[in-house]
Amino acid sequence: MRVLDTVAAFSAALDDERRAGRIVGLVPTMGALHDGHASLVERAADECDVVAATIFVNPLQFGAGEDLDAYPRTLDADVKVVEQAGGSIVLAPTVTEMYGTGGTRTTVSVASEMTSILEGASRPGHFDGVATVVAKLFAMAGRCRAYFGEKDFQQLAVVRRMAHDLSFPVEIVGCPTVRADDGLALSSRNAYLSAEERRVAPVLYRALQAGADAAAAGDDPEPVMAAVLATEPLIEPDYAVVVDAATLQPARELAGDLRLLVAARLPSARLIDNMGVTLPGTHRKDT
Ligand code: PAJ
Repeated sequence: MRVLDTVAAFSAALDDERRAGRIVGLVPTMGALHDGHASLVERAADECDVVAATIFVNPLQFGAGEDLDAYPRTLDADVKVVEQAGGSIVLAPTVTEMYGTGGTRTTVSVASEMTSILEGASRPGHFDGVATVVAKLFAMAGRCRAYFGEKDFQQLAVVRRMAHDLSFPVEIVGCPTVRADDGLALSSRNAYLSAEERRVAPVLYRALQAGADAAAAGDDPEPVMAAVLATEPLIEPDYAVVVDAATLQPARELAGDLRLLVAARLPSARLIDNMGVTLPGTHRKDT
């Protein structure tokens, strides 16, 4: 297990692996690793010869008043999670190592039709921060397969688009959401929840299930999801929508590959979740 804190050592290590003929898997994270992150490392280890995880709480993607300072930092435990899941290299840089002492004067911005909606609407600038740090990680890592969770479905779409548009030699692999037994999607932010909040949090998953059932029956899933979320007074819903899975734009008809997306605030954390639904018929927006 190699735990590196400089970009130069990380890039050199992955160059060496490729020179030895190995396919590199990359798993970018912000640490506080749980079984969801571990599933990405395991998948990468199955499909690649060597797996590198990055652990960096990226200030650029946190808005004013968000939880940058409170975000859990558990490097020693994280390194063990990566190792047990089959990873062998960790990059855990400081903010100065990533962005220099004066901060970055360059940011990567994906078109607003993908980044100002949904999560971007309540977190302005968030996806520029994500796109910028992921572009930097791709540049540092070089040719690889990079593993991202469907848990952050909009992030996955933004990263795919960015990697394509900027011609990074990186194949993006989306991986299914890992959930607790009661359906709650695992998230580092679940650690903020009180016992009472943790008890009601699975309502997001129940809303998605009810929405998927409604869509399969030909009914609009949005009011159904909103009604399920409204059953828990502790939860303040943000959005509950059905979109085209490829474009993230509102679904024009209940056909083809759709994605149900929900976001809600609890007193101690904002939670998001999503679920895919594939319905018969082709969802063509251009014809
Ligand atoms: P972080 O929230 O640490 O998540 C790292 C990766 O783990 C992301 O691809 C995320 O979608 C995935 N993940 C989180 N919870 C998951 C779950 N329950 N099941 C499956 N995968 C899950 O997302 C980020 O960090 C950052 O924005 C990052 C991409 C690292 C850029 O800073």
